[in-house]
Amino acid sequence: MTVKPVLIATRALPTAVEARASRTYDYHASPEAEPLSVSDLPAKARDLGAQALLVTPSDRMDADVIAALPDRIAIIATFSVGYEHIDLEAAEARGILVTNTPGVLTEATADIALLLLLGAARRASEGERMMRAGTWTGWTPTQLLGTDLRGKRLGILGMGRIGQALAHRARALGMNILYHNRKPLPKEEAGDAQYQVRVEDLLFQSDALSLHVPATPQTRKFLNGARLALLPRGAIVINTARGAVVDDEALIAALRHGQVGAAGLDVYDDEPKVHPGYAALPNTFLLPHLGSATVETREAMGFKALDNLDAHFEGRIPPNRIHPTA
Ligand code: DGY
Repeated sequence: MTVKPVLIATRALPTAVEARASRTYDYHASPEAEPLSVSDLPAKARDLGAQALLVTPSDRMDADVIAALPDRIAIIATFSVGYEHIDLEAAEARGILVTNTPGVLTEATADIALLLLLGAARRASEGERMMRAGTWTGWTPTQLLGTDLRGKRLGILGMGRIGQALAHRARALGMNILYHNRKPLPKEEAGDAQYQVRVEDLLFQSDALSLHVPATPQTRKFLNGARLALLPRGAIVINTARGAVVDDEALIAALRHGQVGAAGLDVYDDEPKVHPGYAALPNTFLLPHLGSATVETREAMGFKALDNLDAHFEGRIPPNRIHPTA
């Protein structure tokens, strides 16, 4: 009888993913109501003789946690495309592989960016609150007037897979697409989207700005007061990438004073904390990091994480190895 590798997941996973994990691994799930905290992870991994960990963006795998892991841990698979929650240098120092799940959450996340764009432009949050509070007194010509998106310019910062999928959706709304990347995309990927060499030029022209860059030391608080001031007055800001990319105090001030007309946010710095200033404003449309939250997408993410683990335990290079790089 072959001995199954021991795998610990820090959070409950979709049923189909757990079923597959249990077939291949000596799988230790964490119940929905009782996620395994990262501070308990090293001891649990030692007790169970774990060789692999399946973690999520909610688990901060910092240098101390990684240093405390038992030697048997060979691979950390994150159930996410983002991996800023894992200290890669610390993983390297321990010889631990790290993998992620790119490609499968593109469409779901672009859908949420579109929802935020429409919700922010059309004051959906205020309307919804009014309905729930029972304070709607009927249709009037001037009630909750939003802004048309047709003919407006959507600036996409980071025209990767998700940025391109949002551009595709926004074209259907009649928006004109501008983008900034380090390098222009080939014509077949960019389509009619206009490349802006300087990020400032993108900001100047973005009636709506959508962020699609990862959280890195270089992008931390990228959207600060000085950059927000470059946007056309009343612009809309959308963030489905990472909260760390935005300077919260600056965005809240810009929303208060009208420099930014509305913001649609799905991600926040230091989640699950949310700067209280956002909820206090009428012109914010806020979601709790739902970008990839569909059954189909979360299953695909889980299967991708398992594909990576399977590859490792079958002696192959995991297809989505982010560290060490191939
Ligand atoms: C990711 O995969 O990084 C996403 O933020 C999860 O929705």
